Amino acid sequence: MSIKQIIKRGLKYIFTGTPVKDIRAEITYSEPDSKLKGKKIVITGGGRGLGAAMAEKFVAEKAEVLITGRNEESLKKTAEKLNCKYLVLDITKPEKFSQFIKQADEMLGGVNCLVNNAGISLHEKTFFDVTPETFDAQINTNFKGAFFLTQEFITLVKNKNEKANILFTSSETGDTMDFRPYGFTKAAINSMIQGLAYLFAKDNIRINAVAPGITASDMTGYKTDGNLYLEINATERVYLPEEVAETACFLLSDASGCISGQIIVCNNARTVNVRWK
Ligand SMILES: NC(=O)c1ccc[n+]([C@@H]2O[C@H](COP(=O)([O-])OP(=O)(O)OC[C@H]3O[C@@H](n4cnc5c(N)ncnc54)[C@H](OP(=O)(O)O)[C@@H]3O)[C@@H](O)[C@H]2O)c1
Repeated sequence: MSIKQIIKRGLKYIFTGTPVKDIRAEITYSEPDSKLKGKKIVITGGGRGLGAAMAEKFVAEKAEVLITGRNEESLKKTAEKLNCKYLVLDITKPEKFSQFIKQADEMLGGVNCLVNNAGISLHEKTFFDVTPETFDAQINTNFKGAFFLTQEFITLVKNKNEKANILFTSSETGDTMDFRPYGFTKAAINSMIQGLAYLFAKDNIRINAVAPGITASDMTGYKTDGNLYLEINATERVYLPEEVAETACFLLSDASGCISGQIIVCNNARTVNVRWK
């Protein structure tokens, strides 16, 4: 939890008397049993946060994994810890994607899964704080990058006539209202997932998404081993990246073979209600 959050909670307690809860996660994860054997997976934004948790789960399930990001130091550290491969790739540079996909394909001995996870949220406070720069940065990272990397990946697997699987990290903001570009990027991603899933179903390419609620990572400032209390989440708890990784693993595994074009919202129904108070 950040200093700002601690101060906010302290003030809330003083002025409203609402108790400051201390909530930790008690989660049972599925036992690794080679659920992803034979999967050769590229994960964008895999050096930290949700991407790194997915990499850890996928390696435990016997996938071969290659993580990417801008920061070589964190990629190297995570790759060494998890026993996976890495390549530096800035997702806002589509001109690099063709070479990148070829290289990743060689390093993995035939890539067959892509996880479009890299993303930024610039947390503009109001509609009027959105600038052309913050708008472009989020669109380019979260949406344009994922679109063109997916285009390169599908070109490769279609040319090889290979069965393939693509997963996106969308967000609970993707199917709710927003005034910030972040939410727009996730809504656009959701549309793309459904369109591409329909378009490439006959090519044996499945395309789905996990859409997390507020989850502990650098993006939100919550630490996985800290107090996870958050009143606005349905279970009053911030999610852990490892929980999202469990769902991601299912969607990449052959156990979900009949599922494509689906956006699985990981937020305990926080955003489904439009009828009841
Ligand atoms: N945390 C949440 O509450 C939450 C909720 C819903 C959805 N999500 C989504 O989950 C995904 C991962 O976020 P996170 O929470 O794990 O955040 P995070 O800890 O801040 O990680 C963001 C990741 O994206 C990578 N990235 C950012 N810009 C990039 C660029 N230009 N090129 C390549 N990689 C880039 C970062 O790598 P480098 O810095 O090394 O480049 C890092 O690995 C994002 O798509 C986010 O929108 C998060």
